[in-house]
Amino acid sequence: MSNSSAGRETWSTRIGFILAAVGSAVGLGNIWRFPFQVGQEGGAAFIVMYLAFVVLIGFPAMMVEFVVGRQTGLNAVGGIREFAGGAWKYLGGLFVFIGFVILSYYSVVGGWVLRYILGSATGGYIAQGPGEYFVQISSGLDALAAHAVFMLLVVIIVALGVKQGIELGVKIMVPAIIAIFALLAVYAFTLPGAGEAYSYYLSPDLDYLLANWQSIVPAAAGQGFFTLSLGMGVMITYASYLSEDENLGIDGGTIVIFNTGISILTGLIVFPILFSAGVDPETSGAGAIFLSVAEALGNLQFGRIIGVLFFTTVAIAALSSAISLIEVVVSYAIDEFGIARERATILIGSAIFLLGAPVTIDTVMVDLYDIFAAQILLVLGGILLVTLVSWLHPEEAIDELSKGIKSFSGIDQVWLWTVRIPVLVVLIVSLYLGIDTFVDFLTGDAFTDFLASL
Ligand code: TRP
Repeated sequence: MSNSSAGRETWSTRIGFILAAVGSAVGLGNIWRFPFQVGQEGGAAFIVMYLAFVVLIGFPAMMVEFVVGRQTGLNAVGGIREFAGGAWKYLGGLFVFIGFVILSYYSVVGGWVLRYILGSATGGYIAQGPGEYFVQISSGLDALAAHAVFMLLVVIIVALGVKQGIELGVKIMVPAIIAIFALLAVYAFTLPGAGEAYSYYLSPDLDYLLANWQSIVPAAAGQGFFTLSLGMGVMITYASYLSEDENLGIDGGTIVIFNTGISILTGLIVFPILFSAGVDPETSGAGAIFLSVAEALGNLQFGRIIGVLFFTTVAIAALSSAISLIEVVVSYAIDEFGIARERATILIGSAIFLLGAPVTIDTVMVDLYDIFAAQILLVLGGILLVTLVSWLHPEEAIDELSKGIKSFSGIDQVWLWTVRIPVLVVLIVSLYLGIDTFVDFLTGDAFTDFLASL
């Protein structure tokens, strides 16, 4: 353990930490997964639930991870071991497992993004048509090759240890996302289907929510954890670099606001385009962002240039998130087995590539991995973390949170009891419903037909 604190890089500035955490949070979760979940769970009804989860569950859960990280000054696995001891050290093992699973399919989707940079440059999806292009590149050898390239990029960045480069990348990425996305959102606003799309996207159908809460709740929980990079210790690692005069609440709030804003903005692009093109958001599934943006770019002047910029920005966002995922696993391997960083990264990157390879057989495999990871594993990780910190180590937690804050009395008990009871209860219910959703998926037509076709 001791060597993990020696020679650690620290964030050059407070902004450096926020940028890195935003770099982890903002990624395919906002740009690919969010519109896909909104489409699958009935539009604005899902958004209401999602926003409630982000504010009432996600933010307090982020504080839980920050506490462990800053208190111990260690990475996710070491931090948990030092903070908790005993059988809790296996929680670190769960984090490593989750990192493996998420990155394995995250990289496949990241590969799609790389493919779309190429498709924009060559005009491929404009010539072929957005729907056919997506079908062609999203599975099979094309997808496998792109998955390999994405993982290779991740391995190269992490093996070289260029975390400072990430700070810079995120500094450019966030403004670039806002600028390019705003441009496309304005274009989407001018489309004939915009009105219908906004009402679908922004005005919740409460009857729908009540009738479908059993699938909306676990989906919102999964999306809340996924998009904020919670439930597997990423935020432990990042907060371990923070100094004690930092106000954790303000930092967390900033991250949550940025991250949520980018998701909402993405939806303002996707849905007007889908409605105008007559595509049902539900059927577009995991392809929503790719189909809609490709459709728009085909109609825009300079569409191909905008496409290269758009997908390059998305790729940077995806890479900075992927790095945070693999970093949990790599730092564990370095601490635990004393292997060198380059070696650890190459071995782990290869293993993750192999685990992700079956995902390229058919897009239904993306759902398989994704539901399991987000709705079950991350929520489980969250439950265990929240229990550990709020029930077993409340004094340390409150002490840690109060640093960097002038007056914390009063709020501390509110936070503590919020996470102890309501947050935990909601997460346990979400986990139960998430397992149910997963079983429904395994026994549903899409998956059984796929198995039969093998
Ligand atoms: N939050 C990232 C995104 O939205 C993905 C991610 C990075 C992640 N690190 C994580 C998800 C840790 C869950 C846990 O794209």
